[in-house]
Amino acid sequence: MRAVGLLLLLLALCGSGAQGELQETETTKTTTADIWAEVRALRDMVVELKVELRNVQAAVTDSESQVEELKAELMVTNVYVELLQRENSELQTRLSSSESELLISKTRIETLERENTERKVAFYTGLTNSRHVGPFNTDITLKYIKVFTNVGDAYNPSTGFFTAPVRGVYYFQFTMGGYQTGNMGVYVYKNNQRIMYNLEYKEEAGHDYMTNSVVLELMAGDEIHLVLPKGFSLFDSADNESTFSGSLLFTL
Ligand SMILES: *[C@@H]1O[C@H](CO)[C@@H](O)[C@H](O)[C@H]1NC(C)=O
Repeated sequence: MRAVGLLLLLLALCGSGAQGELQETETTKTTTADIWAEVRALRDMVVELKVELRNVQAAVTDSESQVEELKAELMVTNVYVELLQRENSELQTRLSSSESELLISKTRIETLERENTERKVAFYTGLTNSRHVGPFNTDITLKYIKVFTNVGDAYNPSTGFFTAPVRGVYYFQFTMGGYQTGNMGVYVYKNNQRIMYNLEYKEEAGHDYMTNSVVLELMAGDEIHLVLPKGFSLFDSADNESTFSGSLLFTL
């Protein structure tokens, strides 16, 4: 704008020169020279401005391409953020399903621990220290009162009954011993039902033994006990001649 103004001023000055005095004085010569100097300066300025303009244009182009680059980068970033968000929500889904799996496992472990505790069932007992038991004129339940082992407390020495705490397969063993005893005998009962006879018509005067065992599938609450048959007898002392033992082999 300033350059255009100066040009107009210059033209006005030239015009007045042509129209005005015909005589050229020294002063006029000087003035003309000044004007031309001014014109050259202006031309130089225009050249400079052009250069500057080109520089500015280059800078603008540069900035524009930078903006484009940034836009592209932003787009990539957006896509990346979206991917991360999706991944994050997938991870959260997996985490919560892991948590519920963990809860199920915990419950399962608790059940297994309880079952494992219930599974610890084993007893080993001796009949008495007071030597001869029987004969009696009726069947009697044998109460093995020397309790050496009773893990799980399934055997009750005050009744002589073993009660299965869980459904499972159980192993029972008993030894009937005699010393100068008449006929020895033991019946095995499951609940109210006799399931085994063990009778021995003893003739020797010394010690005599008989051992037998059963493997039984029992329901929780089923009872096992031994009975001394009417007319038969047993012998037990601190030497443990007559014993009764059992254990849970595995649950069902
Ligand atoms: C009888 O059995 C108990 C338990 O096993 C034992 O402590 C005791 O020594 C036994 N008696 C004899 C004389 O072996």
